[in-house]
Amino acid sequence: MTQISDSRHTDASADAAPRDADPWRHWRLERDADGLAWLTLDRAGSTVNTLSREVLAELAAVLDALTARPPRGLVIRSAKPAGFAAGADVDEFARLDTPEAARALIARGWDLYARLAGVPYPTLALIHGHCLGGGLELALACRYRLVADAPDTTLALPEVMLGIFPGWGGMLRLPALIGAPAALDMMLTGRRCDARRSAALGLADARVPTRLLEQAARKTVLSGRRPRRARGLPALLNRWPLNALAAAQARRRIAQKDPQGHYPAPPAIITLWQRHGGNALQAPALLESILASDTARNLVRVFRLQERLKAYGKAGDAAPVARVHVVGAGVMGGDIAAWCALRGLTVTLQDQDAARIAPALARAGKLYARRLKDRRAARAAFDRLVPDPDGHGIARADLVIEAIVEQLEAKRALYRSIEPRLKPGALLATNTSSLSLKDLRTGLAQPSRLVGIHFFNPVASMPLVEVVNGHDGDTAAQARACAFVGAIGKLPLPVRDAPGFLVNAVLAPYLLEAMRAVDEGLAPETVDAALTAFGMPMGPLELADTVGLDVALAAGRQLAGQAEPPRCLAERVGRGALGRKTGSGFYAWRDGKPARRQAGPAPEGLAARLVAPLVEQARRQVEAGVVQDADLADAGVIFGTGYAPYTGGPLHQHTSASQHRIDPGDTGNPD
Ligand code: NAI
Repeated sequence: MTQISDSRHTDASADAAPRDADPWRHWRLERDADGLAWLTLDRAGSTVNTLSREVLAELAAVLDALTARPPRGLVIRSAKPAGFAAGADVDEFARLDTPEAARALIARGWDLYARLAGVPYPTLALIHGHCLGGGLELALACRYRLVADAPDTTLALPEVMLGIFPGWGGMLRLPALIGAPAALDMMLTGRRCDARRSAALGLADARVPTRLLEQAARKTVLSGRRPRRARGLPALLNRWPLNALAAAQARRRIAQKDPQGHYPAPPAIITLWQRHGGNALQAPALLESILASDTARNLVRVFRLQERLKAYGKAGDAAPVARVHVVGAGVMGGDIAAWCALRGLTVTLQDQDAARIAPALARAGKLYARRLKDRRAARAAFDRLVPDPDGHGIARADLVIEAIVEQLEAKRALYRSIEPRLKPGALLATNTSSLSLKDLRTGLAQPSRLVGIHFFNPVASMPLVEVVNGHDGDTAAQARACAFVGAIGKLPLPVRDAPGFLVNAVLAPYLLEAMRAVDEGLAPETVDAALTAFGMPMGPLELADTVGLDVALAAGRQLAGQAEPPRCLAERVGRGALGRKTGSGFYAWRDGKPARRQAGPAPEGLAARLVAPLVEQARRQVEAGVVQDADLADAGVIFGTGYAPYTGGPLHQHTSASQHRIDPGDTGNPD
């Protein structure tokens, strides 16, 4: 028997058995002495396997070759270190322009995967890294699935996040495999499963240490074991009459999350699963309406904007940051330090004394327990976060982040004491939200080493970080800071030094307009309800309470140039009702939650009125060059505030309506 230790690099089987001539650009087919066929996906010219039309056409040809000379078993795997397959090619989807093209795209994958599912020999998907969308549907069409027991193993059907559905057989095979409740949850939320969860759900037959994957694949594919299927109640919920129950429950959950129906894909997924056996080709009108919807187009736009931000976070030739020192262990500094350690960096955390660092460490412990299910990994992250009241870490850090009180003189004094201790080439960053970098740089011996790295609160859940430009147009420090932000799994948005940068500058006039509506007599509940119905993750008054009304008042003065603050704001700040942190503001706060009364009916056009100043300010920030262009402003506002993604962004929505397309050349597409 010829061992194929790693035929990604070698062709160990060549002498043992004849090999199919490899006429394919993206697939490699090898046969071994056991009669097994090993099919490796390695999409040409790309670091990830996306399933383009050409990749699928070649897979059909591979299946032809296998039909002509059937193997004893087939193992499908990937040659890309990053993962198995990332799903359909988003660019091809975005180019669909006719209903026929939309149907053809679905039929292409549906038919091909049905063919794979029907081959007479056993098949197995050997999965490492990401296995998403059409990639997971490919794996589902195999008889068995094994996943690498590694931290980067990720299985998901994220189509719903692009406003579409898993049309290549996922809606048929996933519920059959793991039962309706778990499958609907995955399909309707795009939720990701790691190796452990995949095995627990039955999505994978087993999780296997990476070094044993091939051996396990060989054994499993030839085992003759019956393929897994859902059993018991989860299986019954797939079939009439109980499927109606599962569908009704899922519909209720969707309606709670999206009462206005801004997102048409989730209800369509339920209908396709319940009434059409997961086959969208049986419901052509629904298929076309979803694939051609503005929502899908806009969500694809948001996806590409995200890719563009991610591209700023790629290292390029910037020197990597391995050690971080954070000064200020308060709300922000403590959480920034904790996040960096979670993401694998070695972090020292400084404050005026150890007692002020302790609460940050306690919060970090909770974060790690929540995020890292594995106790050893949580312990390791905690060990990487070192309390350092005396600032010993400064001299060894590649990056020092300052997050002390928002006072110019305090920050400058700190820089004076830190700068001489920095190692050559180390970057100094401030988390300031309102001070000018120009002012902060005065007094530094090397002003070009100070950049702004502006995180949002709460650090762990906010994906965006604004990276404020370097001294005198120096782009190297900003690029390095962006690469650091990318390395810790956040989305960097390069911005110019200007009051409020982008995100706070657009939020301030929006929050003030909401408060004016309260001055006019509307209840906070009514105002907030109008905006959550519009699609905001949180109403503006709840947001103001969360940020702190003193902060909102100061931001209003600085950013909106207002003469008189709204009465409701001044009055609350005057009596010390500063929002969540004091227990009352626009709402009374209990256990971190606002106590709300029933919202009243909102006047016609309220949401549009409140959003208008945000849109106008976004336009002004673009004109002033705070961000490079309108697309980046949309990206920043969506990822920095949660602005209703189905709209495609504040400027997109108000300029080119639904026809706007991004030039793929502009988006920093990872391919
Ligand atoms: P905070 O008041 O919670 O924490 C500041 C910490 O810095 C305190 O623990 C204090 O003891 C410490 N500190 C003060 N002077 C120090 C010194 N010389 N050496 C060492 N430690 C010192 O403040 P917060 O909210 O964390 O803000 C920090 C920075 O982050 C500010 O520049 C603020 O504008 C910015 N920011 C705040 C956001 C928020 O939502 N709170 C959001 C984004 C940025």
